[in-house]
Amino acid sequence: MKAFNDLADFSNEEIQKLLDLANRLDKHPEPDALKGKVLALLFLSPSLRTLASFQAAMTRLGGGSFVISPDMSIHGIETRPGIVMDGAAAEHIREAVPVIASYGDAIGIRAFAERRNLDYDMADTEFNSMTQLVTTPYINMESAIGHPCQNLADWKTLDDYEVPANGGKFVLSWAYHPRALPLAVPASTLYTAARRGMDVTVLRPEGFELPDAIMRKARDAAAANGGSLRESTDRRDAMQGAHVIYAKSWSSTRFYGDKLGDQKLREGFEDWCVDEPWFDNADKNCHFMHCLPVRRGVVVSERVLDGPRSIVIHEARNRMLAQMAVLHQMLGASS
Ligand code: CP
Repeated sequence: MKAFNDLADFSNEEIQKLLDLANRLDKHPEPDALKGKVLALLFLSPSLRTLASFQAAMTRLGGGSFVISPDMSIHGIETRPGIVMDGAAAEHIREAVPVIASYGDAIGIRAFAERRNLDYDMADTEFNSMTQLVTTPYINMESAIGHPCQNLADWKTLDDYEVPANGGKFVLSWAYHPRALPLAVPASTLYTAARRGMDVTVLRPEGFELPDAIMRKARDAAAANGGSLRESTDRRDAMQGAHVIYAKSWSSTRFYGDKLGDQKLREGFEDWCVDEPWFDNADKNCHFMHCLPVRRGVVVSERVLDGPRSIVIHEARNRMLAQMAVLHQMLGASS
């Protein structure tokens, strides 16, 4: 495996193989599988789960890892192309990335969306400009438009809880958040549920439509895998018979890059906080999922998050197992 960037790059059989491997490594640890291998981790955006789970994954497989982030005492890093570097930054990403990559057998890169220009972010411009600089295999640890490690962990979580693939009802719901958040998780989660063959509903208020290209990619995946995709602004309609609600806030595409416009729009939707009444007409075992971190009492009520519907901790642990499977294949340990 040369890159782990998007589940769309993998066949259904390849995804199933990764899921089987993640389950196998959970039950039958392989503490020497990646002995002597090194994973370089470049975090240009903050993290808890991704940072810790990649380090834990490498350690559990017998390898090592190192982390570079702007919070450490490194030289200031410039990311803009074609810039005269007469300001604070002493090092450009064009040298930093290949140097960091050269110390490892693979590199993981996290770089969130700039959230200034939708086309720039939709093209994953910054992430792609960095991966072009490396010759080692690379892993997308969340870019402007993708979060494949989260997606693989979420797929495993749905399997673990025996949520039906074909016939399973998956609601991706926008939730209130005080800030405009990136599209990476909603876009790639939508694709994942559709790719799994589920009947997917995007529940969101007016103004928070996902971009056409994201909807089209998910719709095609659903059609190819026996699922379906629709949108709704009506909570009761969307939640009818739902097996899973996956909450996530995202930026308004109408006001992308316009902080004030987005803020004004979202202020009207503070009641989009997932709470027990949302589940009135859902399947009685309907699960609550979220990639974390999550704001209690803002995105979801405490009683849902701390209650039996919530599977967020299991979901977060699956990050480590999913990544162990990716690393096992990428770094040559898989037969
Ligand atoms: N879900 C996720 O990627 O968490 P972190 O941002 O903490 O890594």
